[in-house]
Amino acid sequence: MDKGGVVREMFDRIARRYDLTNSVMTAGIDASWRRKAIDVLDPAVDARLLDLCCGTGVMTRDLASRTPNGHVIGVDFSPVMLEVARAKNSKSNIEFVQADALHLPFENESFDGATMGFSMRNLVDVAEGLREIRRVLRPGASFVNLEISKPPNLVWRKMFYLHFYGVVPLLGRIVGGDAAAYRYLPQSLVNFPDADRLAGMFAAAGFEHARYIRLLGGIVTIHSGMRPASVAVADSGRLEQAGVA
Ligand SMILES: C[S@@+](CC[C@H](N)C(=O)[O-])C[C@H]1O[C@@H](n2cnc3c(N)ncnc32)[C@H](O)[C@@H]1O
Repeated sequence: MDKGGVVREMFDRIARRYDLTNSVMTAGIDASWRRKAIDVLDPAVDARLLDLCCGTGVMTRDLASRTPNGHVIGVDFSPVMLEVARAKNSKSNIEFVQADALHLPFENESFDGATMGFSMRNLVDVAEGLREIRRVLRPGASFVNLEISKPPNLVWRKMFYLHFYGVVPLLGRIVGGDAAAYRYLPQSLVNFPDADRLAGMFAAAGFEHARYIRLLGGIVTIHSGMRPASVAVADSGRLEQAGVA
């Protein structure tokens, strides 16, 4: 099985206890981080939005509350995550679609904004994922990514790593019921780019105003970038050369 398939099966296994395990591991702060990410996106009340790698749909439902006259599509490749998401959903302006974030079944320039929460580390190819997100955004629309990161302060980073690589696998075994999955999840941060490099990858994928804010001393970052409203001719050539047009 390829890496994507292994990751999908792992999320299938932990889906039913995912929300509870998350709340225990973050002492419930994760909910406020998702709301902050949606503040950064600042969607219009009638926007058509995409929540990528939506899992159990926590962020999807928050987005839908912020766009009562709009429409939100939650995408995930784990059928069990989507089963939980659909069971928890009571909003009429949400739709859940099973798909791979690297190959979205949507037309070019069809969304007014997109989010991704705690998932980018799992993508087999982050650069490809960013280009695919840019493809489905309308010119002028933004993508906001909420993800665990690497705190710049060495002491704080060490303390965080003690929790992340020590306590999280333990809690994952006890609360999440799957030791292997919660050993993998922290490991997925090891090769993930730090905040500056990730912002650079946003820019390389063709996002304008690529920037980030750090939360909790950089344990979590919110990256954002906008698909340019209009691309100058010279820029368009450069983007084509970079394979992002
Ligand atoms: C850690 S969970 C995050 C769920 C949710 N966004 C949240 O904030 O709680 C990661 C999710 O990403 C999904 N995922 C990972 N890679 C994916 C891909 N290539 N395409 C679609 N979904 C993916 C997994 O199935 C899982 O539901």
